[in-house]
Amino acid sequence: MSDVEALKREAGIAACRYVKSGMNVGLGTGSTVKYTIIEIGRRVSEEGLEIIGVPTSEATRELAESLDIPLMEISDVKSLDITIDGADEFDSHFSLIKGGGGALTREKIVANLSKSMIVVADESKRVDILGKFNLPVEVNPEKFSTVIEEISSICPGKVFLRRTTTNTEGEENIYVTDNDGYILDCEFGPTIVNPAVMERMISGIEGVVDVGLFVGICDAVFVASPSGVEIMVNPEGRLC
Ligand code: A5P
Repeated sequence: MSDVEALKREAGIAACRYVKSGMNVGLGTGSTVKYTIIEIGRRVSEEGLEIIGVPTSEATRELAESLDIPLMEISDVKSLDITIDGADEFDSHFSLIKGGGGALTREKIVANLSKSMIVVADESKRVDILGKFNLPVEVNPEKFSTVIEEISSICPGKVFLRRTTTNTEGEENIYVTDNDGYILDCEFGPTIVNPAVMERMISGIEGVVDVGLFVGICDAVFVASPSGVEIMVNPEGRLC
């Protein structure tokens, strides 16, 4: 296991301390929270942990099913006790960029239904100002070109339609989300000084399904670095 992978695993497992029997748990998407889900699966099978998970993507659903974690659909959920998820960037105000894995819309729905949200990450995700990671925006496929035009008028860099390589010849197809949407990756650079305003501005564009900015949702970040796992708790959050 590489050093970064070991850090992801440490952060992912550490956050499980908040998961208790009887909880409904939002299960995030990505290579860090994968370790949280594996640990929850271990506790379900070895320790009799009783939870119901709500997956934020089809990939997470498959993983959770393979570990025999009982699941429920988002549409059947009124409220969740906790969500644990990864992030592409987080800042000192607990604002996040998410959506590198394309699951931002379901991730935001699940996080918003939750009484608290914990992020698991390695230290490379910590930034002073959000935006070095290209901001993912999910769009309605019929509107993607007009949304590109509109976002380009506020984005200092390029706006890319996400593509995916499908075969060994390197042929590319447009990336399609679990909700049949497209993703635009927007090259803001570290300029997003007011993520709440930016989120509102982009959400207001016709054809935008959701924006990968999560503001005022994250209650704690478990950050793994070579010196251990730091737990940053949001003083204005719901875990205080
Ligand atoms: C999925 O859409 C994303 O929001 C992920 O949570 C995010 O990209 C973090 O993923 P990693 O833990 O794989 O970096």
